Amino acid sequence: MSRAAIISIAILLITRSGALASISCATVIEEVAPCTSFLQGGSKQPSVACCNGIKKLSGEAGTHQNRTAICQCLKEGLATIGNYDPKRVPQVPKDCGLSATLPPIDKNTDCSNISFMM
Ligand SMILES: *[C@@H]1O[C@H](CO)[C@@H](O)[C@H](O)[C@H]1NC(C)=O
Ligand SMILES: *[C@@H]1O[C@H](CO)[C@@H](O)[C@H](O)[C@H]1NC(C)=O
Repeated sequence: MSRAAIISIAILLITRSGALASISCATVIEEVAPCTSFLQGGSKQPSVACCNGIKKLSGEAGTHQNRTAICQCLKEGLATIGNYDPKRVPQVPKDCGLSATLPPIDKNTDCSNISFMM
């Protein structure tokens, strides 16, 4: 295959996945990045920045499609931070005093078949 063909296929794939995703993972990961230390057990409480990120996310989780996207992004993001405690994921919105709930997301979580309320 020619280089140009490969590149145009790559662009097609990127723009298609962009159109399918309701929320960009870069945004999701940026918003929850301050939660890393709490998820890894480094701090007893999620930080204010972490809570604000989760609050912002929960404001965008109005549709099933968005919730699935958020879950998928969290799963991908969590896979890159190394060791963490999945049981602390549902603890974040709770400790932040939000009514949102999150499942204990780990690498085996099936985001397409998950029910949670954000
Ligand atoms: C879904 O996500 C998009 C992108 O972040 C956002 O603009 C939209 O308001 C969300 N929809 C709902 C119903 O929350
Ligand atoms: C996953 O989807 C199947 C079929 O729709 C359903 O029967 C099952 O209860 C779902 N599991 C969870 C954990 O939601």
